Amino acid sequence: MIRFDSQHGRLAALAADCLAIGLFDDNQLTGAAAQLDAASKGQLQRLRDSGDLPSRPGETQLLLQLAGVRARRVLVVGLGKRADFNRRSWRKCVAAALTASLKGKSAHLALALERPAVAELDDYYLGRSVADLAGAALYRVNDQKSGRRPTAPALRRLSLAGEPASARAALAKGLAHGAAISAGQKLLRDLGNLPGNICTPRYLAAQAKSLAAANRSLRARVFDEAQIRRLKMGCLLAVSRGSAEPPRFIVMEYRGGRRGAAPVVLVGKGVTFDTGGISLKDPAAMDEMKYDMCGAGSVLATMQVVAALRLPINVVGLVAAVENMPGSRATKPGDIATSASGRTVEILNTDAEGRLILCDALDYARRFEPAAVVDIATLTGACVVALGHHFSGVMGNDDALARELVQAGADADDRAWQLPLTEDYAEQLRSNFADIANVGGRDGGAITAAAFLGRFTQGLSWAHLDIAGTAWLSGAQKGGTGRPVPLLVEFLLRRAGRI
Ligand code: BES
Ligand code: MN
Ligand code: ZN
Repeated sequence: MIRFDSQHGRLAALAADCLAIGLFDDNQLTGAAAQLDAASKGQLQRLRDSGDLPSRPGETQLLLQLAGVRARRVLVVGLGKRADFNRRSWRKCVAAALTASLKGKSAHLALALERPAVAELDDYYLGRSVADLAGAALYRVNDQKSGRRPTAPALRRLSLAGEPASARAALAKGLAHGAAISAGQKLLRDLGNLPGNICTPRYLAAQAKSLAAANRSLRARVFDEAQIRRLKMGCLLAVSRGSAEPPRFIVMEYRGGRRGAAPVVLVGKGVTFDTGGISLKDPAAMDEMKYDMCGAGSVLATMQVVAALRLPINVVGLVAAVENMPGSRATKPGDIATSASGRTVEILNTDAEGRLILCDALDYARRFEPAAVVDIATLTGACVVALGHHFSGVMGNDDALARELVQAGADADDRAWQLPLTEDYAEQLRSNFADIANVGGRDGGAITAAAFLGRFTQGLSWAHLDIAGTAWLSGAQKGGTGRPVPLLVEFLLRRAGRI
């Protein structure tokens, strides 16, 4: 854990192990660079003139014992072209500064990089962004390697410097929120990265219990297989039938708002491993299906953040946790299950299992008479085809709620994009033998999946987040991303009137 604060004195007099400043690629030293140049009697300008300082965005150069500057190390970070400087490039430069400084021995880093003059990066979001970027830079993957652990970074304290004293309160609030969010992202990344043989439905349930044990304001109830049967969640059970791992249904409650105020209900897809079932997946990259519980992980993580920030609202987190396996008792294509709502579902493809567990969880959400229901799921490969890895998909039956989530994603640098969800798509789910089929053909696959959920959320204010493309990275950087925790917390902070 590192400590965050802001420091408002003269930069040259600042006591830190390392002071990071920014430099544009023009010949003008401004902001922190101009201050240190004056303190060092023009030494920065001379270094710049001789071509010894970086200017390309994210390039860094460490200077030791710059004359007239108290901090022993000055880290110069290139900011690129002044005209191109925006929130996105600023984030990259801050990330580069953090990565470079973490390689060294500095325990106290002060950041005095200039920021772009844009409305979306006010004092509050400056604090938020720096804390969440620090969390990302400090994250070490929870691997199971048996060799010697790499030494932990020396960083203990991170100060924002060079900002006016009048910004102190907003910076502190942003830093506190950002630190809580990045702790939530770490929890989600860790859960996602765990292999399927460790992170089982029972493991997720134990996580929920331990979150509740650590936070007085959180309550966790866990339903086992027999209780799930009593809840008549026939679709959820149809998915878990083929597995030796028993399913769990988790209910977390946070009551920070008025008694009786309608809660926001978050619903997470917790498929701890998705083989596809009898409709078995292709082996290539099947290991990545251990991330198929990231919707569930994001619900648990968001509950943790909401409790840590004591938000004055009521939030319920529901998690349907199962393993999707092709055991001898597994559901077969063509089998018909009865959902908790009483509707029958023809399971034409056992790999379309996420919607089956979610329809029963969404039905359970009704009993809370929620103000809004948001489900989060690594639901479709089709969503990855549509939006790639940059935007999560948003669909729903309440455009205002969908827009709220899209805006929250933009503000939190955890972007999402709305796809249309009209009656046209639901028509693809016709079944000859049951009320509805669980697949609607290849075309518009992300939307027909949402349309399936839409049949179970009538009368609710509901939105669906498809995070199949954003919850983890593949290839050399394989690992969970911690998304969409920033989006969800932003959405709840706004609902709670905290920003
Ligand atoms: N968990 C997958 C979705 C997925 C696929 C996420 C690839 C990330 C990467 C989901 O359960 C699934 O298998 N969906 C099927 C649906 C199809 C059978 C209608 C898919 O997307 O192929
Ligand atoms: Mn599947
Ligand atoms: Zn799945």
